[in-house]
Amino acid sequence: MKKIYLSLTLLAFITLPLLATAGDTGPETMDLKERFKVEGKKKAVIFPHRQHQSKLECAKCHINPQGGGDLNVEIVNMKGARNDFHTKFCWPCHKEMKVPKGRSCSTCHK
Ligand code: HEC
Ligand code: HEC
Ligand code: HEC
Repeated sequence: MKKIYLSLTLLAFITLPLLATAGDTGPETMDLKERFKVEGKKKAVIFPHRQHQSKLECAKCHINPQGGGDLNVEIVNMKGARNDFHTKFCWPCHKEMKVPKGRSCSTCHK
């Protein structure tokens, strides 16, 4: 009896966190200016998260292969045109994957 109870609690401990995180795909779109408290006059970037998810593995952007949580690049510098979104995150992938107009200002700031 004790053994069954023990294994049941153990099972709950293992599966509950999995259930809680599984299927959490996050917001469909995100206002990155607001989310990262970016200052400046450029129009806010509304990031199409879901659209990226439909083309890419979560691990292309997130440390966790299941997605969510930290990104696999650290965004520190958020000022001016040499900010880390441009230089470390959005632009390198758009360049690598040859996204049409992937580095044109109006593709993201609109
Ligand atoms: C692939 C997407 C993308 C493209 C293309 C892009 N940016 Fe950005 N940019 C961002 C993101 C994300 C931020 C940070 C979030 C925000 O400001 O909304 C940002 C922030 C900025 C900032 C700092 C914030 C501010 O308001 O001053 C400047 C300046 C900027 N971009 C200029 C440009 C210029 C100029 C171009 C065209 C040469 C450009 N961006 C193209 C994604 C992009
Ligand atoms: C092209 C890049 C990219 C891909 C691919 C991607 N995400 Fe994200 N995701 C982001 C960004 C950017 C954020 C905002 C990060 C932040 O606020 O620190 C985010 C945030 C999230 C969040 C957090 C939402 C919140 O409100 O805290 C979840 C959950 C998430 N993503 C799940 C996923 C899952 C699941 C996948 C794969 C199916 C995935 N993402 C694929 C870029 C991506
Ligand atoms: C790991 C690769 C990757 C990263 C990182 C990435 N993108 Fe993209 N992005 C893509 C691909 C691939 C497409 C083309 C998607 C398609 O054809 O539907 C795309 C397309 C886009 C588009 C055009 C959507 C449309 O068709 O209207 C926007 C806007 C965009 N990305 C914004 C961003 C911003 C902002 C960031 C950084 C915060 C970012 N992306 C980071 C791969 C990436």
